[in-house]
Amino acid sequence: MNNKPLQAHHFEPVAGAFALLSRPVSSACNMTNILTANRLTKEFGRVRALDDVSFHVEEGEVLGLIGPNGAGKTTLFNVIAGSSRIDKGTIKLDGEDITRKSPSTRCRLGIGRTYQVPRPFETLTVYENVLVSAVHGAGRNQKEARSEVRGILELSGLAHRKSHFAKDLNVLERKLLELAKVLGSNPRLLLLDEIAAGLTEVDFQQVLKIVGQLRGKGRTVIWVEHIPRLMTQGVDRLLVLAEGKILASGKPGEVMSTQQVADVYLGRQQE
Ligand SMILES: Nc1ncnc2c1ncn2[C@@H]1O[C@H](COP(=O)(O)OP(=O)(O)O)[C@@H](O)[C@H]1O
Ligand SMILES: [Mg+2]
Repeated sequence: MNNKPLQAHHFEPVAGAFALLSRPVSSACNMTNILTANRLTKEFGRVRALDDVSFHVEEGEVLGLIGPNGAGKTTLFNVIAGSSRIDKGTIKLDGEDITRKSPSTRCRLGIGRTYQVPRPFETLTVYENVLVSAVHGAGRNQKEARSEVRGILELSGLAHRKSHFAKDLNVLERKLLELAKVLGSNPRLLLLDEIAAGLTEVDFQQVLKIVGQLRGKGRTVIWVEHIPRLMTQGVDRLLVLAEGKILASGKPGEVMSTQQVADVYLGRQQE
């Protein structure tokens, strides 16, 4: 194993990645917590995937969450979205305790998540995939849903592919469809699980731009990536998770340049 830590400058900044994207005037300025996680613990047998994790997310904020493989990032999304129950701790959405609520109730309350491996309906078109979500996820009638889907496809850059079957999409398009599907359910809090993993730098820029647009519309986002790369340029704040614990939190540039993060997180990238 090579323990030599990578230096912070290995994560190249993208000049002006969000220069053209304005900050929302709406709820984003209120600084109220949309999500509060208090002392979350989740064990799988002898593995403690989450170990006393506490953090909050402000409304309108894009929070980046990074950490090595196995750090507990997806587990954290599972317990927030409700597909997995925590052993200890509480989760509040807008101050309301949702710890014991079902995934469908949490979806209705405004939590939407993408999956690391996209899960479209392969034999439906792009349009139909998002429509299903807009009707069943958000509970809209057909007319409202159709109009909403058009906007979502524009925003996610898939409008020109709307009549194609999901099975015929390339890697980037599958990731964008995963995002478009979750937007169909009209979430206030979006959980993006490695949406940019495996993409080229050019494709990554497109994802960065879309997340910036969502932020501009006042959506709250928690964006997980295993390898932070350019993602740190698109977030307001960064949390680092390692072995189920929060290791660091703060402004992306500051967090990435701390020795602790370099040693524990970046060092492991070279294993
Ligand atoms: N369903 C599960 N059953 C057993 N162990 C699990 C399960 N889900 C996750 N784990 C374990 O929990 C730890 C955290 O996993 P995960 O949340 O997937 O990490 P990350 O998303 O950061 O790569 C790992 O050690 C993983 O093997
Ligand atoms: Mg994961």
